[in-house]
Amino acid sequence: MQMNNNIKVIMMGLGYIGLPTAALIASKGISVLGVDVQQKVVDTINNGKIHIVEPELDGIVKHDVDRGYLKAAITPQKADVFLVAVPTPFKGDHQPDLSYVESATQMILPQLEEGNLFIIESTSPVGTTEKMTNLIFSERPELKNKIYIAYCPERVLPGNVIYELKNNDRAIGGIDEASTQQACDFYRLFVTGDLHETNARTAEMTKLVENASRDVQIAFANELSMICDEADIDVWELINLANKHPRVNILQPGTGVGGHCIAVDPWFIVSEFKEKAKIIRTAREINNYKTEWVIEKIKNKALEFELKEGRKPIIACFGLAFKPDIDDLRESPALHVVQSLIDQGLEVLAVEPNINSQSNGAGLNIISMKDALEQMDLGFKLVGHKSFRKLPEDIVKFVNG
Ligand SMILES: NC(=O)c1ccc[n+]([C@@H]2O[C@H](COP(=O)([O-])OP(=O)(O)OC[C@H]3O[C@@H](n4cnc5c(N)ncnc54)[C@H](O)[C@@H]3O)[C@@H](O)[C@H]2O)c1
Repeated sequence: MQMNNNIKVIMMGLGYIGLPTAALIASKGISVLGVDVQQKVVDTINNGKIHIVEPELDGIVKHDVDRGYLKAAITPQKADVFLVAVPTPFKGDHQPDLSYVESATQMILPQLEEGNLFIIESTSPVGTTEKMTNLIFSERPELKNKIYIAYCPERVLPGNVIYELKNNDRAIGGIDEASTQQACDFYRLFVTGDLHETNARTAEMTKLVENASRDVQIAFANELSMICDEADIDVWELINLANKHPRVNILQPGTGVGGHCIAVDPWFIVSEFKEKAKIIRTAREINNYKTEWVIEKIKNKALEFELKEGRKPIIACFGLAFKPDIDDLRESPALHVVQSLIDQGLEVLAVEPNINSQSNGAGLNIISMKDALEQMDLGFKLVGHKSFRKLPEDIVKFVNG
């Protein structure tokens, strides 16, 4: 198939990855139908609006919808290129949950035609593209060797997605050479970063390894922060000094590790390579433990206050999102801290300037920074949002900045 602006693209999943990708493709004058199982999401986009917080995205979506290049629907239609960017969480026992990818693939199946390109962007365990290939060919055997199938992971930074979608390099792995080539031709329409050709399994593992690598490095910093606390050493100063070494670059510790990627993807390696993935598993455990450690620290401070004042303190927690300057609460360690303190009977005021207090979805009463500072007895900074830079000195900081 000739890749040019006349192709029609279907994007399955209009979340943090799918919507910006669909919008960027449509901004090149390519016709894109975004498909999502949530009617509210479909309606919002068809009204030229967005349902997530991401700089620049609202203007691009509005422009695309006004010009007729971006539409949304509940079900897919026939197209030339099908992209899948649906969730890939893990189940209770840390096993990858591929049900969303399978269901999106099932929805596409009746629409597939000879010459189509099918690409999975969802972060996936090694072998997922092969599994979906088998699913497609078992249901539509006549398409064997007649469609192109590839895997191309996304590695954007929330908050800077539009820039990174365009400029980041991509690893693109087809189930065969022709699929890799077709997928590269497609991404060349809207990506200016380098496109690196590989096979589907390597592309799948590339994404998992990127996030596992970050997780291991953050675990090192988090472990240091707990050691330094016991040794009465300021961990921020320590890391700053150690990083003066020309070949040392220690990351910053925090409340833990959250989000849809780094806190999840390493388990996709651990669950499949149980005996070999020792550092990767330990890093996950350290980063999870850091969050429990923060909870214990806050509880101890609350107890000290109660013993001194004869009443329980009002605690203010600054930040709920899983990292600075976004509204995303998925797998958020700060949210876990706040919910756990409340569950244990403490009075907690939550401050999250990136989330509308009426619709936070977390069931929490979110108040303004000003009100929290006025009402609190004890304050704890859990997320390094820019707007928290000028918090008073007596706030206990679990994050830098
Ligand atoms: N958010 C990130 O920063 C990021 C970065 C890199 C990779 N990823 C990966 O990208 C994938 C998507 O992540 P996200 O953050 O965009 O998720 P998201 O939850 O924000 O969005 C997913 C969307 O898919 C929709 N959906 C679910 N099942 C569907 C189906 N069968 N058909 C159509 N739509 C369906 C949901 O309603 C939702 O709107 C995941 O695998 C994730 O790990 C995310």
